[in-house]
Parts: sequence; C-alpha cells; structure tokens
Amino acid sequence: MSDLNVKEKWQFGKRDFIFLGVVAVVVLVLVLGTSDRTTKNVPSDAIHLHVDSRAECMTCHGVDGIKPQPKGHSRADQCFQCHMQPKEWHQKPQ
Ligand code: HEC
Ligand code: HEC
Repeated sequence: MSDLNVKEKWQFGKRDFIFLGVVAVVVLVLVLGTSDRTTKNVPSDAIHLHVDSRAECMTCHGVDGIKPQPKGHSRADQCFQCHMQPKEWHQKPQ
C-alpha cells in the first residue's frame, strides 16, 4: 500500500494570504469608487432650477458656453448622477 496522503491537511498558506489581499484591495477600490461618483452640486439658483435637458445644460456648459465643463471632463450624459440636483428640484434631464 502506498502511503500517499490524499486527504492532506489544509493549511493557511502564503497563497491564501495573497488571495485575501487581492480581495481586500478590490473591495476597497469599489467602495472608494462609489463615494467618488458625486461632485459639485448643481447650483440652486434661478438658472439651474429651470433646466431639464442635457441639451440645455450644454448651451452654457458646452465648449463655447459661458461656463464650459473643465478640460478632460467626463462625456457622460447623466449630469445628475454626479452633480446632485438641488433638493427642491425633481426634474431629470435625458
Ligand atoms: C443659462 C446657462 C446655464 C445652464 C442652462 C446651466 N448652467 Fe450650470 N452654471 C451656469 C453658470 C453661469 C455657472 C457658474 C455660476 C454659478 O455657480 O451659478 C454654472 C455652474 C454649474 C456647476 C458648478 C457649480 C460649482 O459649484 O462650481 C455645475 C455642476 C452646473 N452648473 C451644472 C449644470 C447642469 C447639470 C445643468 C443642466 C441641468 C446646467 N448646469 C445648466 C450656467 C448654466
Ligand atoms: C461621471 C461623473 C460626471 C458626470 C456624469 C458629469 N460630470 Fe460634470 N464634473 C464631474 C467632475 C468630477 C468635475 C470636476 C469637479 C472639480 O473640478 O472639482 C465636474 C465638473 C463640472 C463643471 C465645472 C464645475 C466648476 O466648478 O468649474 C461643470 C460646469 C460640469 N461638470 C457640468 C456638467 C454637465 C452639464 C454634465 C452633464 C452633461 C456633467 N457635468 C456630467 C463629474 C461629472
């Protein structure tokens, strides 16, 4: 009979530590990533309370507008995903 030990006792080894480390880093990145989603609020002023479409936002915040989006700004369309709306305002641009 061979004494091949099939049911070797499992031990917490170096590779398991590395694996746990990678999992921890991924979780951390995801958590930090979600909190980064929001930035400056849309101002709660007369102008902004009346806009309800992205096209309107871009008349002022496009490249030739009075307050263009900063260089390298996201091209994402859902402004309100990142720029929170004023509380008293419930419209959503497309
Ligand atoms: C009629 C022009 C106009 C339109 C339309 C407009 N904005 Fe603005 N926006 C401005 C001006 C001017 C400022 C800078 C002065 C201020 O803070 O009010 C500004 C500032 C901002 C800021 C920066 C706030 C800060 O704290 O620096 C954000 C974010 C913003 N607008 C988002 C939007 C979004 C999203 C829309 C569309 C729903 C929109 N704006 C539509 C004129 C406009
Ligand atoms: C993916 C997230 C995201 C989306 C979607 C987004 N923005 Fe931004 N926006 C940012 C970030 C981040 C900044 C940089 C803030 C800073 O410079 O501190 C910014 C800055 C701005 C600023 C300049 C604010 C200032 O104080 O100078 C304006 C204006 C603006 N965005 C308008 C818009 C408009 C209009 C839309 C929709 C077409 C939009 N953003 C969609 C993330 C986003």
